[in-house]
Amino acid sequence: MPAIRKVVVCGAGFLGRHIAKAVISSPKSIGDSDVQVQVSSRRPRKVWESLVAEEKLSTHSLLPPVPIDITDPATLDPALQHAEIVISLVGIMHGSPQDFENVQLKGAENVARAAKTAGAKLIHFSAIGADPSSNIPYVRTKGLAEQSIFAISPDAIIIRPSLVFGPEDDFFNRFARLSKILPFLPVFGGGTSLFQPVYVGDIARLVSHLSCNVGRINTTSSCDFSGKVIEAGGPGVFSYKQLMQIILEATGRRRPIISLPFFMGMIQGAVLEKLPVNLFTVTRAQVAQLKDDNIVSCPMPPNHVSLEDALSRFSSAPLHAVREIVPTYIH
Ligand SMILES: NC(=O)c1ccc[n+]([C@@H]2O[C@H](COP(=O)([O-])OP(=O)(O)OC[C@H]3O[C@@H](n4cnc5c(N)ncnc54)[C@H](OP(=O)(O)O)[C@@H]3O)[C@@H](O)[C@H]2O)c1
Repeated sequence: MPAIRKVVVCGAGFLGRHIAKAVISSPKSIGDSDVQVQVSSRRPRKVWESLVAEEKLSTHSLLPPVPIDITDPATLDPALQHAEIVISLVGIMHGSPQDFENVQLKGAENVARAAKTAGAKLIHFSAIGADPSSNIPYVRTKGLAEQSIFAISPDAIIIRPSLVFGPEDDFFNRFARLSKILPFLPVFGGGTSLFQPVYVGDIARLVSHLSCNVGRINTTSSCDFSGKVIEAGGPGVFSYKQLMQIILEATGRRRPIISLPFFMGMIQGAVLEKLPVNLFTVTRAQVAQLKDDNIVSCPMPPNHVSLEDALSRFSSAPLHAVREIVPTYIH
C-alpha cells in the first residue's frame, strides 16, 4: 500500500481549482505516494463539486471539502491535520484596510502557523509588487505577509504572480463582458503600465512539481525552492492598452480604447467601491495600483527566481502565451 500524502488547498477560488486539479492529475501520485487533495475556504463546496463533475476527479483523490475561515485560527488546526503540504491562496480584491489586514496579513499568518503545527510544507501566494511600505492595503498586506511567512516558516516557498489568465479569470473575462455592453473600453493614464500575464495552468504545473518534491530532495538540489520567492510572469510583457486590444481582437469586437486621467478613475472608484461588487466595480486602490508596472524584477533580487527558471528545472515545456490561450475562452 503506497503512503498517502495530504495536500490542503486553502482558498477554493480561481487558482485553487486549477492547482487542485494539477496536483491530483500529476503522474498518478506524488513520488511513490498516493496524493489526496482537500479544498478549503469559507464555502468550498462549489469548487469541489465542479472538480468532481467537470474534471471527473475521483473522490478518492479529492477529499471532502472542509470549510475554514482563515481569520479564525480555530477552524484551521482540524482542517490542516495530517497535511504534508499546505497551499495558502486566500486573497481579497475588495474591502476596507482592516479587511486586508485581517485576511491577507493576520489570516495568512494563521495559515502559516497552522501549517507549521501540522508539520506541513507551506507554499504561500503573494503578488508581484508586494511591498510592506506601500500605502495601498492590498500591496502592503501582501508585502508584510511575506515577511511574516518567512519569520514563521523560513523554508516556505512564496509565489508572486503577475496578472493570471485562464478560464474563469476575473480580468480577461470581465473586460470581454464589458466590451459587449460599453461603446468603448476605458484605460487610465494612457494605459501604459506594464503587465506580464501568466497562464494559470503554468502556475498549477509549478505547484504540482513543487508538491512532488517536498521531503524527497535534499536541500542543495536545484529543484529545492525552500525560502525562495518565485516571481511568476508569463513569456510576454504588454501595456494595459495592449491587453485591451488583445481582448477586442479575441472577441472580434471593434471598440475605441479611451484613456481617462487617473483622477477620474479615483472619482469613479470612490463611488463604485461603496456599491455591491459588480461588473463595473473598480476601487481607488486598484486605480492607484495601475500607476506601477506589474512585471517580474529585472535583475532578479537575491533569493528570487523567475517562474520560467523554476519550471525549467522540472520540464522543458514552455510557458503559455496570452495570445495562444485567451482567445480559447473569452467571447
Ligand atoms: N488572479 C490573479 O490574477 C492574481 C494575481 C496575483 C496574485 N494573486 C493571488 O493569488 C491568490 C489566489 O488568487 P485567486 O485569483 O485564485 O483568488 P480568488 O479566486 O478570489 O480565490 C480566493 C478564495 O479565497 C477564499 N476566501 C476569501 N476570504 C477567506 C477567508 N477569510 N477564509 C477562507 N477563505 C477565504 C474565497 O472563497 P470563499 O468565498 O469560499 O471563502 C475565494 O474563492 C490570492 O492570494 C491572490 O492575491 C492572484
